[in-house]
Amino acid sequence: MNINLTEFKARRQKLIASMSEGIAIIHTAPEVFRNRDSHYPFRFDSYFYYLTGFKEPESVVILIAGSAPKSILFCRDKDIEREIWDGFRYGADAARETFGFDEAYSINELDTVVLKLLANQAKLYFSLGESATWDARVTAWLNALRAQTRSGVSAPAEVYDLRQLVDEMRLYKSPYEIDLMRRSANIAANAHNRAMQFAKPNMMEYEVEAEFLHEFYRKGAQAPAYTSIVAGGANACTLHYSANNAKLNDGDLLLIDAGCELDGYASDITRTFPVNGKFSAAQKDIYTLVLTAQHAAIAQVNIANHWNAPHEAALDVLIQGFIDLKLCKGSKDAVLETGDYRQFYMHRTGHWLGLDVHDAGEYKAPKSNDTPAQWRMLEANMMLTVEPGCYIRPADNVPEHFWNIGIRIEDDVLVTSHGCDVLTLKAAKSVADIEDVMQR
Ligand code: GLY
Ligand code: MN
Ligand code: MN
Repeated sequence: MNINLTEFKARRQKLIASMSEGIAIIHTAPEVFRNRDSHYPFRFDSYFYYLTGFKEPESVVILIAGSAPKSILFCRDKDIEREIWDGFRYGADAARETFGFDEAYSINELDTVVLKLLANQAKLYFSLGESATWDARVTAWLNALRAQTRSGVSAPAEVYDLRQLVDEMRLYKSPYEIDLMRRSANIAANAHNRAMQFAKPNMMEYEVEAEFLHEFYRKGAQAPAYTSIVAGGANACTLHYSANNAKLNDGDLLLIDAGCELDGYASDITRTFPVNGKFSAAQKDIYTLVLTAQHAAIAQVNIANHWNAPHEAALDVLIQGFIDLKLCKGSKDAVLETGDYRQFYMHRTGHWLGLDVHDAGEYKAPKSNDTPAQWRMLEANMMLTVEPGCYIRPADNVPEHFWNIGIRIEDDVLVTSHGCDVLTLKAAKSVADIEDVMQR
């Protein structure tokens, strides 16, 4: 396996530097049973993976800051018997070599070794509250040390949330991460184009979903980044629709929100297109409105603006459109003020994107008692989605030709020093391009 040692080591060093002193304990995700003898596919914990590049379950990394900094991995033993059943395991020695740790031990030694490492440290960095099992385990370690005070041993007096430090690091993508995310975005964009060519009236939603899985796995992505939404007609107005088991009707739109995970990194794309390859007049009205809102939002993604500027730009376009199309009544300011637009647009215009589809990172800064939190400024190498939409359920105040139109258009966008870079442009998006791809 090719692992980017420099990248992962640099992340650990950076975290250790920002801790300045103390110890950090980061565990990976648990394996979860789906039913008897059968697990859900294992997905490592994003924080653990970010700091290690190590994908095996039952692993913990400990970082020590201060005058003698080091990083220590705990992982499963080599076990020829288990490897016959479940596949390769590194074992501590090979993992230390391959992943560039200072020390590595069997996970079975964790309870013993950790007490020596924790003893007399001033600060502990840990994701308190993330897992009841791990909270209890760490508390037991602290209590074991407290019980030794008369022998001169002390437990850390201060416990900090590790995530606050790592989230800030994860928010800024490195060239290595940007390259991976471009590749993840490319695979997903091609899958969307493929779906546009594949979908036909009377097909089932799951047949189209299968095209995505086919394209994701065939291009080396390890998994969908989240449960794909393949929503024909009225189903598109259910924001987290995931049944994907209805028939696609001639004359309906199909909304697909699907992205893949490549070496841990998510893509997140939504496209909406007519099942029969041709937008109706009413569909085109709403589609053009959402697309105009999306262009306006993307135009705000640059380092001169704060996080909320794209959302505000999208809202401005959408609200004017809702008024023009007689979906909302009153002035733009009044519709914004009353929130009447939420009948048709009830979510925000994006989120950070990275190892998690809704990635780590604060949206407001700074947090202090003296200054109210403000939307943080966009900065180069942040990655976000831009995804306005419009969802029109049947209602007395809505012209009938708009009923059951649900549209979202979502791209993955990198903030650059001079503007932004849309990573998912390859997925057809304009009315003309979509109709053209669907003809082919
Ligand atoms: N696919 C999840 C989202 O768009 O936020
Ligand atoms: Mn999204
Ligand atoms: Mn999405």
